[in-house]
Amino acid sequence: MRLELTVNGERREAGVWAGESLLSTLRDRLGLPGSKNACEQGECGSCSVLLDGRLVCSCLVLAVQAEGHEIVTVEGLADGEALHPVQEAFAETGAVQCGFCTPGFVVAAADLLGRNPDPSDDDIREALSGNLCRCTGYQKILDAVRLAAAK
Ligand code: FES
Ligand code: FES
Repeated sequence: MRLELTVNGERREAGVWAGESLLSTLRDRLGLPGSKNACEQGECGSCSVLLDGRLVCSCLVLAVQAEGHEIVTVEGLADGEALHPVQEAFAETGAVQCGFCTPGFVVAAADLLGRNPDPSDDDIREALSGNLCRCTGYQKILDAVRLAAAK
């Protein structure tokens, strides 16, 4: 079936099968591999995107459910060559190791700071509670979100 949706501000079309996830459509059909597939079960948050401004796991959303809706992926956060403050802060604090979890954390952190520009540590922990990282021990990630908020 044919699907039309807006991704990172651009109108896009894709041919999808009925049970296809939005994550697969983004990665495999629309050339946007930033959202990662680490569990495909809604457990890790590595596939996080914004759907009409709401944070979702794109592995749990059917592509057909996104028909006519607006998606923002990690690729859509930067402003041209200028990185999003969260992206800059992740790089500056060393919050990226293997990087597999990073796109999901960046999208979730950008979502948090969009709603709450001055989050407490508890706010940050709660906002990122759906995202798992096997490498960093989370401290650098918390540092990155604090730095992004300060920026
Ligand atoms: S790949 Fe979607 S939550 Fe893990
Ligand atoms: S940096 Fe490797 S899983 Fe998070």
